[in-house]
Amino acid sequence: FWLRGKQPESRVEFAAELGMWNVYGHPEIEEILRDPATFSSDTTRLVPKEMMPDADLEAMTAGNLLQLDPPLHNKMRKLVSRAFTPKVVADLEPRIAAITHEMLDAVTTPGRLELVEDLAYPLPVIVIAELLGVPASDRHLFKGWVDKMFESSEQLSLVKKDEKQDEAIKKSLEGQKSLTDYLGVHVDERRKQPREDLLTKLVEAELDGERLSRNEVVNFANILLLAGHITTTMLLGNSVLCLDTHREWDERIRADRSLVPPAIEESLRFLTPFAAVARTTMREVELGGVTVPADQLLMTWVAAANRDERVFTDPDAFDPLRDPNPHLAFGRGIHFCIGAPLARLEGRVALNILFDRYPALRTIPGEPPKFQVNPNMTGVRELPLTTA
Ligand code: HEM
Repeated sequence: FWLRGKQPESRVEFAAELGMWNVYGHPEIEEILRDPATFSSDTTRLVPKEMMPDADLEAMTAGNLLQLDPPLHNKMRKLVSRAFTPKVVADLEPRIAAITHEMLDAVTTPGRLELVEDLAYPLPVIVIAELLGVPASDRHLFKGWVDKMFESSEQLSLVKKDEKQDEAIKKSLEGQKSLTDYLGVHVDERRKQPREDLLTKLVEAELDGERLSRNEVVNFANILLLAGHITTTMLLGNSVLCLDTHREWDERIRADRSLVPPAIEESLRFLTPFAAVARTTMREVELGGVTVPADQLLMTWVAAANRDERVFTDPDAFDPLRDPNPHLAFGRGIHFCIGAPLARLEGRVALNILFDRYPALRTIPGEPPKFQVNPNMTGVRELPLTTA
């Protein structure tokens, strides 16, 4: 259902039970993501107050690039791009390799690997924590809070439903609050005592004489920590799974490592970690032959767009040689993922090291992978492998 709506030919449809629209087509989603004036990223403006009575939505949105529209978005993005430059990311390569080896050296069960727990989760969290300047050893805390935010299997909805939904929202806000409180303490410390880290760079970043507010730095750091790890965890797990289920490619890529980057792109298309991106309509608009009124919430299913046969020949085939491969896994337009170079780098380094260390890396018969339960995410949660 999530891949293509209720009717196979449908690209844009209203889900009455959720009070919002689902969009599944590639050209339709590109049109939305490239037009922020018509399709706003500020989804909080449509959330009925009674659904989140205790949430201070304004404080949560400040500095949250994902939810900002121009002109504020341009300003914030410029400011944070100054701290999060391509050079900052490229310089991380040796450290990413060292952490990967360290994680794999620490595996104690001979001949076995639980890819997510042993590598795909800790690697991106350690990298982003070190970059920000918060102790990587606190990652068990982050995991607890983030799990709370995403453990619900409920689809996002604007329709108030039941206690289960209330409970899921409450848990998610609790997780969110713990994380922001934690980051707030670190931001306050950097304001008093600067260090050589990204948090300090964010605190000190300046544009036209203006600096980011405390809330803005905390919320941006929050997104980096969040976006910076769960999605990349899925990217790593999904890439390994794709190669396990397409063994001919596994052999070919091991023999020709120049195929690692395109294989990662194809796995992002094939199993898209961040499955849907939300927007809201600022006016009535015609989309894929359907009229969508103003002030509607749209879920744009980039995971479905990445299998749109109008754009991808044989979309259900895993083919790292696709060229071009215009997948939407990192979004499009002004909100294009700021962390894409880091995610790609981590994917490339980790996959190469896995190939180097384990000539055979396979799923185990009778121990299938477990997947994320949150419908907005496509990715493995547990991936037991044999290395023998
Ligand atoms: C934005 C996906 C990794 C930070 C986005 C968007 C997508 C996405 C689809 C666009 C959202 C929208 O248009 O509303 C992914 C995937 C990743 C990944 C699939 C890994 C495979 C990362 C990493 C970081 C990061 C590693 C940071 C360290 C961000 C930020 C934005 C963003 C800050 C907001 C940009 C803006 O609104 O201008 N990501 N992401 N992401 N991503 Fe990522």
